[in-house]
Amino acid sequence: MTTIDTDPDTGLDPLEFAVTRNLAAKSNADRDAILANPGFGQSFTDHMVDICWSVRGGWHRPRVSPYGPISLDPAAAVLHYGQEIFEGIKAYRHADGSVHTFRPDQNGRRLQRSARRLALPELPVPYFLQSLRELIAVDGAWVPSGDDQSLYLRPFMFAKEAFLGVRPAHKVAYYLIASPAGAYFKGGVQPVSIWLSEDYSRAGKGGTGAAKTGGNYAASLLPQSEAYENECDQVVFLDQDRNVEELGGMNVVFVYKDGTIVTPQSDSILEGITRDSLLQLARDRGHHVVGRNVSLDEWREGVASGDIVEVFACGTAAVVTPIGVLKGKDFIDEQPTGTLALELREELTNIQYGRAEDKHGWLYRLDA
Ligand SMILES: Cc1ncc(COP(=O)(O)O)c(C=O)c1O
Repeated sequence: MTTIDTDPDTGLDPLEFAVTRNLAAKSNADRDAILANPGFGQSFTDHMVDICWSVRGGWHRPRVSPYGPISLDPAAAVLHYGQEIFEGIKAYRHADGSVHTFRPDQNGRRLQRSARRLALPELPVPYFLQSLRELIAVDGAWVPSGDDQSLYLRPFMFAKEAFLGVRPAHKVAYYLIASPAGAYFKGGVQPVSIWLSEDYSRAGKGGTGAAKTGGNYAASLLPQSEAYENECDQVVFLDQDRNVEELGGMNVVFVYKDGTIVTPQSDSILEGITRDSLLQLARDRGHHVVGRNVSLDEWREGVASGDIVEVFACGTAAVVTPIGVLKGKDFIDEQPTGTLALELREELTNIQYGRAEDKHGWLYRLDA
Protein backbone atom coordinates (compact mmCIF):
# COMPACT_ATOMS: atom_id res chain seq x y z
CA MET A 1 0.00 0.00 0.00
CA THR A 2 1.17 3.52 -0.78
CA THR A 3 1.71 5.56 2.37
CA ILE A 4 -0.36 8.71 2.43
CA ASP A 5 -0.95 11.03 5.38
CA THR A 6 -4.29 12.22 6.70
CA ASP A 7 -5.64 14.83 4.31
CA PRO A 8 -5.12 18.27 5.93
CA ASP A 9 -8.21 19.83 4.27
CA THR A 10 -10.78 17.12 4.93
CA GLY A 11 -9.26 15.31 7.92
CA LEU A 12 -9.89 12.06 6.05
CA ASP A 13 -7.53 9.17 6.74
CA PRO A 14 -6.28 7.37 3.66
CA LEU A 15 -8.08 4.21 2.64
CA GLU A 16 -6.38 0.86 3.11
CA PHE A 17 -6.46 -0.82 -0.26
CA ALA A 18 -6.37 -4.62 -0.42
CA VAL A 19 -4.00 -5.40 -3.27
CA THR A 20 -4.30 -8.62 -5.27
CA ARG A 21 -1.57 -8.95 -7.85
CA ASN A 22 -2.43 -10.14 -11.34
CA LEU A 23 -0.67 -13.48 -11.72
CA ALA A 24 -1.33 -13.34 -15.46
CA ALA A 25 0.17 -9.84 -15.84
CA LYS A 26 1.71 -9.13 -19.24
CA SER A 27 5.40 -9.97 -19.58
CA ASN A 28 7.80 -7.04 -20.01
CA ALA A 29 8.17 -7.97 -23.67
CA ASP A 30 4.40 -8.07 -24.29
CA ARG A 31 3.91 -4.78 -22.49
CA ASP A 32 6.73 -3.12 -24.42
CA ALA A 33 5.17 -4.33 -27.68
CA ILE A 34 1.87 -2.65 -26.72
CA LEU A 35 3.60 0.54 -25.56
CA ALA A 36 5.46 0.78 -28.88
CA ASN A 37 2.15 1.44 -30.63
CA PRO A 38 -0.65 1.83 -28.10
CA GLY A 39 -3.30 3.63 -30.19
CA PHE A 40 -6.11 4.87 -27.96
CA GLY A 41 -8.39 2.99 -25.58
CA GLN A 42 -7.60 -0.47 -26.95
CA SER A 43 -5.24 -2.01 -24.41
CA PHE A 44 -5.53 -1.94 -20.66
CA THR A 45 -3.06 -2.28 -17.83
CA ASP A 46 -2.83 -5.35 -15.59
CA HIS A 47 -4.84 -3.98 -12.68
CA MET A 48 -7.85 -1.89 -11.76
CA VAL A 49 -9.06 -0.11 -8.64
CA ASP A 50 -12.54 -0.22 -7.19
CA ILE A 51 -14.27 1.18 -4.13
CA CYS A 52 -17.83 0.31 -3.09
CA TRP A 53 -20.39 2.72 -1.74
CA SER A 54 -23.67 2.01 -0.02
CA VAL A 55 -26.18 4.15 1.83
CA ARG A 56 -25.42 2.24 5.01
CA GLY A 57 -21.67 1.75 4.74
CA GLY A 58 -20.48 4.83 2.82
CA TRP A 59 -17.21 4.27 0.91
CA HIS A 60 -15.77 0.86 1.74
CA ARG A 61 -13.83 -2.18 0.44
CA PRO A 62 -11.12 -0.34 -1.52
CA ARG A 63 -9.29 -2.81 -3.73
CA VAL A 64 -6.61 -3.13 -6.35
CA SER A 65 -7.36 -6.25 -8.39
CA PRO A 66 -6.35 -7.90 -11.64
CA TYR A 67 -7.97 -6.09 -14.58
CA GLY A 68 -10.96 -8.07 -15.82
CA PRO A 69 -14.70 -8.29 -16.42
CA ILE A 70 -17.07 -6.90 -13.79
CA SER A 71 -19.93 -9.07 -12.61
CA LEU A 72 -23.22 -7.14 -12.58
CA ASP A 73 -26.76 -8.18 -11.76
CA PRO A 74 -28.91 -7.77 -14.90
CA ALA A 75 -31.17 -5.51 -12.84
CA ALA A 76 -28.28 -3.13 -11.97
CA ALA A 77 -29.75 0.36 -12.25
CA VAL A 78 -26.98 1.68 -14.52
CA LEU A 79 -28.04 -0.75 -17.26
CA HIS A 80 -31.56 0.67 -17.26
CA TYR A 81 -31.42 4.29 -16.22
CA GLY A 82 -27.85 5.29 -17.11
CA GLN A 83 -26.87 6.55 -13.65
CA GLU A 84 -23.17 6.80 -14.50
CA ILE A 85 -20.35 9.35 -14.58
CA PHE A 86 -16.69 9.28 -15.57
CA GLU A 87 -13.48 11.28 -15.89
CA GLY A 88 -10.53 11.37 -18.26
CA ILE A 89 -7.01 12.29 -17.12
CA LYS A 90 -3.48 11.35 -18.20
CA ALA A 91 -0.27 10.24 -16.51
CA TYR A 92 2.96 11.47 -18.11
CA ARG A 93 6.45 10.04 -17.81
CA HIS A 94 9.15 12.68 -17.36
CA ALA A 95 12.70 12.39 -18.66
CA ASP A 96 13.97 11.29 -15.21
CA GLY A 97 11.48 8.40 -15.23
CA SER A 98 9.07 9.91 -12.67
CA VAL A 99 5.31 9.78 -13.30
CA HIS A 100 3.08 12.83 -12.95
CA THR A 101 -0.48 13.78 -13.65
CA PHE A 102 -1.99 17.17 -14.34
CA ARG A 103 -4.41 19.05 -12.03
CA PRO A 104 -6.07 15.87 -10.71
CA ASP A 105 -7.80 17.86 -7.97
CA GLN A 106 -9.81 19.51 -10.77
CA ASN A 107 -10.87 16.13 -12.16
CA GLY A 108 -11.73 14.99 -8.64
CA ARG A 109 -13.92 18.04 -8.12
CA ARG A 110 -15.54 17.70 -11.52
CA LEU A 111 -16.34 14.07 -10.70
CA GLN A 112 -18.04 15.36 -7.55
CA ARG A 113 -20.07 17.92 -9.55
CA SER A 114 -21.08 15.20 -12.02
CA ALA A 115 -22.02 12.96 -9.09
CA ARG A 116 -24.24 15.66 -7.62
CA ARG A 117 -26.12 16.12 -10.91
CA LEU A 118 -26.58 12.37 -11.40
CA ALA A 119 -27.64 11.79 -7.76
CA LEU A 120 -24.54 9.65 -7.12
CA PRO A 121 -22.38 9.85 -3.96
CA GLU A 122 -19.45 12.27 -4.05
CA LEU A 123 -16.10 10.50 -3.83
CA PRO A 124 -13.87 12.62 -1.53
CA VAL A 125 -11.05 14.16 -3.60
CA PRO A 126 -8.32 12.60 -1.36
CA TYR A 127 -9.78 9.15 -2.15
CA PHE A 128 -9.82 10.03 -5.86
CA LEU A 129 -6.15 11.06 -5.71
CA GLN A 130 -5.25 7.97 -3.73
CA SER A 131 -6.94 5.73 -6.31
CA LEU A 132 -4.67 7.18 -9.02
CA ARG A 133 -1.59 6.60 -6.90
CA GLU A 134 -2.60 3.05 -5.98
CA LEU A 135 -2.99 2.09 -9.62
CA ILE A 136 0.33 3.64 -10.59
CA ALA A 137 1.98 1.83 -7.66
CA VAL A 138 1.21 -1.50 -9.37
CA ASP A 139 1.00 -0.47 -13.05
CA GLY A 140 3.57 2.35 -13.24
CA ALA A 141 5.54 0.44 -15.86
CA TRP A 142 2.59 0.98 -18.21
CA VAL A 143 3.24 4.74 -18.46
CA PRO A 144 4.92 5.03 -21.87
CA SER A 145 7.92 7.27 -22.44
CA GLY A 146 7.64 8.05 -26.15
CA ASP A 147 6.90 11.51 -27.58
CA ASP A 148 3.36 12.67 -26.76
CA GLN A 149 2.53 9.27 -25.26
CA SER A 150 0.74 8.93 -21.94
CA LEU A 151 -1.24 6.56 -19.77
CA TYR A 152 -4.90 7.53 -20.05
CA LEU A 153 -6.67 7.11 -16.70
CA ARG A 154 -10.40 6.47 -16.74
CA PRO A 155 -12.16 6.83 -13.36
CA PHE A 156 -15.89 6.01 -13.46
CA MET A 157 -18.80 5.44 -11.13
CA PHE A 158 -22.12 3.73 -11.64
CA ALA A 159 -25.31 2.54 -9.94
CA LYS A 160 -24.93 -1.17 -9.30
CA GLU A 161 -27.93 -1.78 -7.07
CA ALA A 162 -30.22 -4.48 -8.49
CA PHE A 163 -33.51 -2.58 -8.39
CA LEU A 164 -35.82 -1.49 -11.18
CA GLY A 165 -37.49 1.34 -9.30
CA VAL A 166 -36.53 4.77 -10.62
CA ARG A 167 -34.65 6.44 -7.77
CA PRO A 168 -30.99 7.09 -6.89
CA ALA A 169 -29.30 3.73 -6.33
CA HIS A 170 -28.40 2.66 -2.80
CA LYS A 171 -25.33 0.76 -4.00
CA VAL A 172 -22.69 2.30 -6.22
CA ALA A 173 -19.25 1.33 -7.50
CA TYR A 174 -16.27 3.56 -8.29
CA TYR A 175 -13.64 2.08 -10.62
CA LEU A 176 -10.38 3.23 -12.13
CA ILE A 177 -8.88 1.61 -15.22
CA ALA A 178 -5.96 2.75 -17.37
CA SER A 179 -5.04 2.49 -21.03
CA PRO A 180 -1.76 3.50 -22.68
CA ALA A 181 -2.26 6.20 -25.33
CA GLY A 182 -0.11 7.02 -28.33
CA ALA A 183 0.47 10.43 -29.87
CA TYR A 184 -2.95 11.76 -30.94
CA PHE A 185 -1.57 13.27 -34.13
CA LYS A 186 1.00 11.31 -36.04
CA GLY A 187 3.20 13.59 -38.15
CA GLY A 188 2.14 16.88 -36.53
CA VAL A 189 -1.09 18.51 -35.41
CA GLN A 190 -3.72 18.61 -38.16
CA PRO A 191 -6.68 21.04 -38.29
CA VAL A 192 -10.05 19.30 -37.95
CA SER A 193 -13.24 19.80 -39.94
CA ILE A 194 -16.40 20.40 -37.92
CA TRP A 195 -19.98 19.53 -38.80
CA LEU A 196 -22.66 21.88 -37.44
CA SER A 197 -25.39 19.78 -35.81
CA GLU A 198 -28.69 21.56 -36.48
CA ASP A 199 -31.15 18.71 -35.98
CA TYR A 200 -29.76 17.34 -32.73
CA SER A 201 -28.66 18.98 -29.51
CA ARG A 202 -26.30 17.66 -26.89
CA ALA A 203 -27.75 19.36 -23.84
CA GLY A 204 -30.67 21.47 -22.75
CA LYS A 205 -31.21 24.15 -20.15
CA GLY A 206 -31.16 22.48 -16.72
CA GLY A 207 -30.04 19.20 -18.30
CA THR A 208 -26.86 17.23 -17.79
CA GLY A 209 -24.58 19.03 -20.27
CA ALA A 210 -22.12 20.19 -17.59
CA ALA A 211 -21.78 16.66 -16.16
CA LYS A 212 -19.47 14.02 -17.57
CA THR A 213 -22.12 11.34 -17.87
CA GLY A 214 -22.43 8.57 -20.44
CA GLY A 215 -25.85 9.73 -21.67
CA ASN A 216 -24.38 12.95 -23.10
CA TYR A 217 -21.97 10.90 -25.19
CA ALA A 218 -24.68 8.43 -26.24
CA ALA A 219 -26.72 11.41 -27.47
CA SER A 220 -23.73 12.70 -29.47
CA LEU A 221 -23.16 9.48 -31.45
CA LEU A 222 -25.87 9.96 -34.07
CA PRO A 223 -24.85 13.56 -34.84
CA GLN A 224 -21.22 12.38 -34.87
CA SER A 225 -22.20 9.79 -37.49
CA GLU A 226 -23.85 12.60 -39.45
CA ALA A 227 -20.53 14.46 -39.27
CA TYR A 228 -18.70 11.45 -40.76
CA GLU A 229 -21.33 11.15 -43.52
CA ASN A 230 -20.58 14.77 -44.35
CA GLU A 231 -16.84 14.08 -44.37
CA CYS A 232 -16.20 15.97 -41.14
CA ASP A 233 -14.08 14.85 -38.19
CA GLN A 234 -16.14 16.23 -35.32
CA VAL A 235 -19.52 17.74 -34.56
CA VAL A 236 -20.31 21.09 -32.89
CA PHE A 237 -23.52 21.63 -30.95
CA LEU A 238 -25.63 24.77 -30.52
CA ASP A 239 -27.96 25.65 -27.66
CA GLN A 240 -31.65 26.54 -28.09
CA ASP A 241 -30.69 30.17 -28.87
CA ARG A 242 -28.16 29.11 -31.54
CA ASN A 243 -25.18 29.87 -29.33
CA VAL A 244 -22.13 27.66 -29.79
CA GLU A 245 -21.76 25.06 -27.02
CA GLU A 246 -18.92 22.60 -27.63
CA LEU A 247 -17.84 19.62 -29.70
CA GLY A 248 -18.80 16.05 -28.74
CA GLY A 249 -15.66 15.79 -26.59
CA MET A 250 -13.84 19.14 -26.68
CA ASN A 251 -14.38 22.81 -25.79
CA VAL A 252 -14.20 25.59 -28.39
CA VAL A 253 -12.10 28.76 -28.19
CA PHE A 254 -12.13 31.83 -30.48
CA VAL A 255 -9.20 34.23 -30.91
CA TYR A 256 -10.06 37.79 -31.99
CA LYS A 257 -7.77 40.09 -33.93
CA ASP A 258 -7.23 42.42 -30.93
CA GLY A 259 -5.88 39.41 -28.99
CA THR A 260 -9.05 38.84 -26.95
CA ILE A 261 -9.88 35.20 -26.39
CA VAL A 262 -13.52 34.23 -26.10
CA THR A 263 -14.98 30.88 -25.11
CA PRO A 264 -18.60 29.82 -24.66
CA GLN A 265 -19.71 29.76 -21.05
CA SER A 266 -22.98 28.27 -19.92
CA ASP A 267 -24.48 25.70 -17.55
CA SER A 268 -24.79 23.17 -20.36
CA ILE A 269 -21.08 22.91 -21.28
CA LEU A 270 -18.52 20.61 -19.70
CA GLU A 271 -15.93 22.80 -17.99
CA GLY A 272 -12.73 21.55 -19.58
CA ILE A 273 -9.57 21.45 -17.51
CA THR A 274 -7.45 21.74 -20.65
CA ARG A 275 -9.36 24.88 -21.66
CA ASP A 276 -9.02 26.40 -18.20
CA SER A 277 -5.26 25.75 -18.27
CA LEU A 278 -4.74 27.10 -21.80
CA LEU A 279 -6.70 30.23 -20.93
CA GLN A 280 -4.51 30.74 -17.85
CA LEU A 281 -1.40 30.46 -20.03
CA ALA A 282 -2.96 32.96 -22.45
CA ARG A 283 -3.66 35.35 -19.55
CA ASP A 284 -0.04 34.95 -18.47
CA ARG A 285 0.90 36.21 -21.94
CA GLY A 286 -1.34 39.27 -21.50
CA HIS A 287 -4.40 38.12 -23.44
CA HIS A 288 -7.80 39.30 -22.28
CA VAL A 289 -9.95 36.19 -21.76
CA VAL A 290 -13.75 36.28 -21.76
CA GLY A 291 -16.32 33.55 -21.09
CA ARG A 292 -19.69 34.45 -22.66
CA ASN A 293 -22.25 33.39 -25.24
CA VAL A 294 -20.97 33.20 -28.82
CA SER A 295 -23.73 32.87 -31.39
CA LEU A 296 -23.28 30.94 -34.60
CA ASP A 297 -23.83 34.24 -36.47
CA GLU A 298 -21.04 35.92 -34.49
CA TRP A 299 -18.71 33.02 -35.37
CA ARG A 300 -19.54 33.06 -39.10
CA GLU A 301 -19.57 36.86 -39.42
CA GLY A 302 -16.38 37.19 -37.37
CA VAL A 303 -14.56 34.80 -39.65
CA ALA A 304 -15.94 36.53 -42.78
CA SER A 305 -14.93 40.00 -41.55
CA GLY A 306 -11.51 38.96 -40.24
CA ASP A 307 -12.41 39.82 -36.63
CA ILE A 308 -11.89 36.19 -35.62
CA VAL A 309 -8.37 35.12 -36.51
CA GLU A 310 -8.23 31.60 -35.05
CA VAL A 311 -10.62 28.95 -33.78
CA PHE A 312 -9.51 25.87 -31.89
CA ALA A 313 -10.86 22.95 -29.89
CA CYS A 314 -9.27 21.57 -26.73
CA GLY A 315 -9.52 18.61 -24.38
CA THR A 316 -7.40 16.03 -22.57
CA ALA A 317 -7.15 13.56 -25.47
CA ALA A 318 -5.94 15.84 -28.29
CA VAL A 319 -4.86 18.80 -26.09
CA VAL A 320 -5.40 21.46 -28.81
CA THR A 321 -6.75 21.05 -32.34
CA PRO A 322 -7.08 23.99 -34.73
CA ILE A 323 -10.47 24.06 -36.46
CA GLY A 324 -9.87 24.22 -40.20
CA VAL A 325 -13.40 24.10 -41.61
CA LEU A 326 -16.95 24.62 -40.33
CA LYS A 327 -19.50 22.86 -42.50
CA GLY A 328 -23.30 23.17 -42.30
CA LYS A 329 -26.18 21.93 -44.43
CA ASP A 330 -25.78 24.81 -46.89
CA PHE A 331 -22.34 26.31 -46.29
CA ILE A 332 -18.66 25.54 -45.92
CA ASP A 333 -16.62 28.16 -44.04
CA GLU A 334 -12.85 27.86 -44.20
CA GLN A 335 -11.43 28.94 -40.83
CA PRO A 336 -8.47 31.27 -40.42
CA THR A 337 -5.37 29.63 -39.01
CA GLY A 338 -2.99 31.41 -36.67
CA THR A 339 -0.14 30.41 -34.42
CA LEU A 340 -1.53 30.94 -30.92
CA ALA A 341 -3.32 27.59 -30.61
CA LEU A 342 -0.18 25.64 -31.39
CA GLU A 343 2.01 27.87 -29.22
CA LEU A 344 -0.28 27.32 -26.24
CA ARG A 345 -0.37 23.60 -27.00
CA GLU A 346 3.42 23.45 -26.91
CA GLU A 347 3.57 25.46 -23.70
CA LEU A 348 1.02 23.22 -21.97
CA THR A 349 2.52 19.92 -23.09
CA ASN A 350 5.99 21.15 -22.06
CA ILE A 351 4.64 21.59 -18.53
CA GLN A 352 2.83 18.24 -18.56
CA TYR A 353 5.93 16.35 -19.70
CA GLY A 354 8.24 18.21 -17.30
CA ARG A 355 10.10 20.13 -20.03
CA ALA A 356 9.10 23.56 -18.69
CA GLU A 357 8.70 25.10 -15.27
CA ASP A 358 5.37 24.30 -13.60
CA LYS A 359 4.69 27.88 -12.42
CA HIS A 360 1.09 27.21 -11.41
CA GLY A 361 1.79 24.04 -9.41
CA TRP A 362 -0.37 21.93 -11.75
CA LEU A 363 1.67 18.73 -11.69
CA TYR A 364 0.98 15.99 -9.14
CA ARG A 365 3.47 13.20 -8.72
CA LEU A 366 1.91 9.75 -8.78
CA ASP A 367 4.85 7.41 -8.22
CA ALA A 368 6.33 8.68 -4.96
C1 LIG B 1 -17.93 17.10 -23.88
C2 LIG B 1 -16.55 17.48 -23.50
N1 LIG B 1 -16.23 18.78 -23.49
C3 LIG B 1 -14.99 19.19 -23.14
C4 LIG B 1 -14.00 18.28 -22.82
C5 LIG B 1 -12.64 18.77 -22.42
O1 LIG B 1 -12.43 18.56 -21.06
P1 LIG B 1 -10.96 18.32 -20.49
O2 LIG B 1 -10.13 19.44 -21.00
O3 LIG B 1 -11.12 18.37 -19.01
O4 LIG B 1 -10.52 17.01 -21.00
C6 LIG B 1 -14.29 16.91 -22.85
C7 LIG B 1 -13.24 15.92 -22.55
O5 LIG B 1 -13.12 15.45 -21.48
C8 LIG B 1 -15.60 16.50 -23.18
O6 LIG B 1 -15.91 15.19 -23.20
